[in-house]
Amino acid sequence: MNGRKRKDLQITLFQGDCLELMEHMEDGLFDMVLTDPPYSSGGLYAGDRQKSTASKYTDTTYNGASRFPDFSGDNMDQRSFTEFMRMVLAKARQKSKDGAVIAVFVDWRNLAAMTDALQAAGWIYRGIVVWNKGNARNIPGRFRQDCEFIVWGTNGQKPVDWKPGAAALQGFYSEKSVPSRIKHHQTEKPVSLLEKLIAISPADGYVCDLFMGSGSTGVACINTDRNFTGIELSKQIFDTAKTRIDEAMAAIRE
Ligand SMILES: C[S@@+](CC[C@H](N)C(=O)[O-])C[C@H]1O[C@@H](n2cnc3c(N)ncnc32)[C@H](O)[C@@H]1O
Repeated sequence: MNGRKRKDLQITLFQGDCLELMEHMEDGLFDMVLTDPPYSSGGLYAGDRQKSTASKYTDTTYNGASRFPDFSGDNMDQRSFTEFMRMVLAKARQKSKDGAVIAVFVDWRNLAAMTDALQAAGWIYRGIVVWNKGNARNIPGRFRQDCEFIVWGTNGQKPVDWKPGAAALQGFYSEKSVPSRIKHHQTEKPVSLLEKLIAISPADGYVCDLFMGSGSTGVACINTDRNFTGIELSKQIFDTAKTRIDEAMAAIRE
């Protein structure tokens, strides 16, 4: 099965704080940083932000994803969030190749903070990809918040490949949110979406996820033949990621 896939992928998983762990990595490693940090969002006011991630991002009545552990790093005000992301993204740039791509998930509340942080970290800001996740709370008389965003940029110049037939990637993706019954994490991202985003990086390249959660980016890397480095702070969530990624590797070895 899956004979087209390489079996010698390099998959490296770390449990701990991404800022600390990146200190020990060599510089200039990554072709792409694709990551989904805690949004420090889920409400307009300080009191909303300080709630648990389960109460901010899951709905016990409808999707039951609150059965997964809460995660930390999600209670910053916008100034702290911007500074934290600036520090993380600056360190990630140091660990990335010249011309590498960064793509960072965020929701509408902290979109502006993220574009600031990415630029302050020294990346060239290239734009915003829109993810239509196909669900949102139904609040009559308002626009639905059914999209999240991927802020992207490059580490310096990324030469354009003008060869015949080469085309740009889409800037808008409709991919259903992961249904709660098959989720591994409160705020899991669809592997199918991540695979499409990873396509911007070179085949056989190195992709890093600094906030890997349940390892969805790792699974997408295995499915698309990219090497992967993932970091997750929570031991319990890290163990989930490791199991998923081991299973995805086993599937390509069959
Ligand atoms: C939004 S979730 C990522 C979900 C992931 N995309 C998935 O599909 O499962 C963010 C993750 O970052 C982790 N995290 C928070 N602070 C961190 C830090 N300083 N270093 C590494 N991971 C961190 C949280 O525990 C949480 O699991």
